Amino acid sequence: MSNPRDVAVLVGSLRKESLNLKLAKALAALAPPQLKLDIVELRQLSMYNQDLDENPPAEWVAFRDRIRRADAVLFVTPEYNRSVPAVLKNAIDIGSRPYGQSAWDGKPGAVVSASPGNIGGFGANHHLRQSLVFLNIPVLQQPEAYIAGADKLFDEQGGIANESTRGFLSKYLTTFAGWVEKNAAK
Ligand SMILES: Cc1cc2nc3c(=O)[nH]c(=O)nc-3n(C[C@H](O)[C@H](O)[C@H](O)COP(=O)(O)O)c2cc1C
Repeated sequence: MSNPRDVAVLVGSLRKESLNLKLAKALAALAPPQLKLDIVELRQLSMYNQDLDENPPAEWVAFRDRIRRADAVLFVTPEYNRSVPAVLKNAIDIGSRPYGQSAWDGKPGAVVSASPGNIGGFGANHHLRQSLVFLNIPVLQQPEAYIAGADKLFDEQGGIANESTRGFLSKYLTTFAGWVEKNAAK
């Protein structure tokens, strides 16, 4: 079999006990052999400022390079005030610049949102998709993944406790693997 596709995973929470970080790790463990999920750290990224485009901070350059190397991107995010957490939007903005050199261009992507609440981060998921359309990221449309009740999602080892959710997420990743293959750079 050929090498697995390199999937950069961006988590929209810096919290130590983040449910979305746990979910990202659980997804990495569930991924089919065609995908290798790698969680990309966002906490070192200073706030985007267009004045710095001519002489960008080293961590912006390293982040842009990491995204450029990836075959695909997977966003795993909470919802903050019905939208995308600032840490994730900041990473998206940094990756999108300098103008005309976006690191995101054409990378196949997918969005998983998770919340302890009942609507599973639907608002963040769709606000995020709005940016991804502009950035020319072909985003997996179906299945959609709004993970509600995320505070009750995990077993003691960090796996997905509920069998039907585990099955759904495995299927989601298999569908995403097909999407990545179909849309990967030739
Ligand atoms: C600033 C802030 C805004 C929030 N807004 C929402 C919201 O709009 N919808 C929602 O379902 N949960 C909201 N929450 C609760 C988060 O879903 C919850 O804190 C979740 O655990 C955060 O994700 P994490 O565990 O990955 O850090 C908010 C939390 C914070 C701190």
